[in-house]
Amino acid sequence: MSKAPPKTLAVVGAGAMGGQIAFQAALHGYDVHLVSRKPERLQTACTDNGELLRRRVEKGKLGAEECEAALARVQASTDLSHIGGCSVVLESVAEDREVKREVLQRISENADVDAIIGTNSSTLSSSLFEQDVRNPQRLLNVHFFNPPLVMQLVEVVRGEHTADATVEAAMRFVSDIGKTPVLVTKETYGFIANRILFIAMQEAFRLVQGGFVTVEDCDLAVRNGLGWPMGPFELADLVGLDVVEAILAEGHAQTGEDRWTPPAILSERVRRGDLGKKSGSGFRT
Ligand code: CAA
Repeated sequence: MSKAPPKTLAVVGAGAMGGQIAFQAALHGYDVHLVSRKPERLQTACTDNGELLRRRVEKGKLGAEECEAALARVQASTDLSHIGGCSVVLESVAEDREVKREVLQRISENADVDAIIGTNSSTLSSSLFEQDVRNPQRLLNVHFFNPPLVMQLVEVVRGEHTADATVEAAMRFVSDIGKTPVLVTKETYGFIANRILFIAMQEAFRLVQGGFVTVEDCDLAVRNGLGWPMGPFELADLVGLDVVEAILAEGHAQTGEDRWTPPAILSERVRRGDLGKKSGSGFRT
């Protein structure tokens, strides 16, 4: 019988996404290296996620021992050389092509050559970074949703040269950390969920920009009429207005279609530094 691979994961990038991905995997028995260049970001990720998990204990949703064991499984580090020996490495840094390129190069230099390298980008397909890694057969998108501790879906996206074994292992990994994987068999802008979500958001932006409805009423309509847990403006604040703008701009750049052009109502806020929840001000924050 073949031996199960060790449950070892590295997450590079400790923002809202990377931090929660690390703790989600730790809850499912993974030893996790959480890496960031910024020690203060690691500190925040450990503190915030510690609070989230301990709150689950208070609510009776998680055992106290299980919680403390999960917290102890996450090793925070500013040193990327520690990722050697991890069977899966997930990149979750800024949604910026050059930043991701540089980070993926450094990951590839430090990771085992047969480690799976997953990029958590929603819009930049892994094939764009093939030249940056030693083993493109082990590279693919593994795309989580915000907040990763809560949202069930993870999109696994096959790159042009991703090996079948890599796709299978990535699907298994996602299930193993308690999430539901869906496979996107060919790269396309926005994959599945974002492609649908961001068109809906664009319509919401147009309705408000055109003076047809207020931000508040638009959210109310979508919550109550469509049954979404959040309206598009609340959701944009949660995702980060800069991230929303970057996703749309990338859609426009990749497809040449005007429907993805970031609207003024969004770009003006980003220029002012109103980025949503993370900056303390946005559409609804
Ligand atoms: N991080 C972690 N956990 C959170 C959280 C956060 N930011 N916000 C809420 N939670 C947890 C709460 O602790 C609570 O946990 P328990 O059930 O264990 O107690 C649970 O979620 C429910 O929270 P609340 O009762 O406070 O609030 P809610 O019922 O309104 O749920 C929500 C909050 C889960 C965020 C819900 O509103 C929701 O599902 N919103 C939609 C989120 C969404 O669409 N995400 C996708 C964004 S697009 C994306 O991520 C793709 C991309 O590439 C940009």
